[in-house]
Amino acid sequence: METITFHSYRGGVGKTVLSVNTAVQLALLGKKVCLVDFDLRAPSHQSLFISSTFSMSPTAKSFTGFLVGDHEPQSVINSTDKENFYCVFSDIEIFQQKESKVRTKLTQHGEGRILAKLFEFVRYCNTQKFDFLIFDCMPGVTYRSLDALIVSDKIMVVTRPVKSEISGLRLVISECYSKLEGAEIFSIMNQVENIKDLVHPPNPLDVNFAKVNVLGITKCLEESSVPIPLLHSFPRVPFVTERIYVLDEKNHPFTVEIETFCNKLLQK
Ligand SMILES: Nc1ncnc2c1ncn2[C@@H]1O[C@H](COP(=O)(O)OP(=O)(O)O)[C@@H](O)[C@H]1O
Ligand SMILES: [Mg+2]
Repeated sequence: METITFHSYRGGVGKTVLSVNTAVQLALLGKKVCLVDFDLRAPSHQSLFISSTFSMSPTAKSFTGFLVGDHEPQSVINSTDKENFYCVFSDIEIFQQKESKVRTKLTQHGEGRILAKLFEFVRYCNTQKFDFLIFDCMPGVTYRSLDALIVSDKIMVVTRPVKSEISGLRLVISECYSKLEGAEIFSIMNQVENIKDLVHPPNPLDVNFAKVNVLGITKCLEESSVPIPLLHSFPRVPFVTERIYVLDEKNHPFTVEIETFCNKLLQK
């Protein structure tokens, strides 16, 4: 089994859309996949799966409850109508209770207890013969994002080529990725401007900005103290919403990109 975490410095870069579609596509290719919504502060998978054409009824307990010792690993995994695809949801209520002990447990270091629970979950998934365990991680440098990175075999660092991302990328490289041992780290550049899709001719100033930002991210990755090869660049596709394109729309440009990405991933 391979454990893969989608991580980023900031939110809104595309971790959820990319990890969900990748996980489902790998299942469509015959791999047994478990996808975990590990954005504990802002989980979104439950609403995504229930409102999409994906047919499932969530009966499992929350991953958040598992992490604090309330549930067994086998009770948090939802099966779906896709034979090979399983998903695990987190619980927003706990994070909204500002003063609760459980919230403190989830946000603090806690002598590595949450990390130990994550390792327990990885071991359980191994016994269930999953091919892939995929974490859609919370962004930034937090104890929990570090935990997910530590248990991973592969890390997908998602970035957008905008100026403000460059300093953030430098920070996560020095604070997180350069300290990890054993994980293979790849980057994904997402929402790259695609001039051919534009209806109005772009301002040459904007075209230049876009190019400079792509070069800025590329340089930052090249200068990284740990190797972070670029695995795939996803163009900004007009009207990509929170849907499961690989199921809903076989010929959608985003589906085609995810298929290409998964083929690259399987060759790694
Ligand atoms: N390649 C893309 N092209 C167009 N829109 C995208 C693309 N990738 C992500 N988005 C959109 O960007 C927004 C943020 O994506 P999301 O996956 O929720 O980010 P994150 O999980 O990193 O916070 C969503 O509205 C999503 O539909
Ligand atoms: Mg997300």
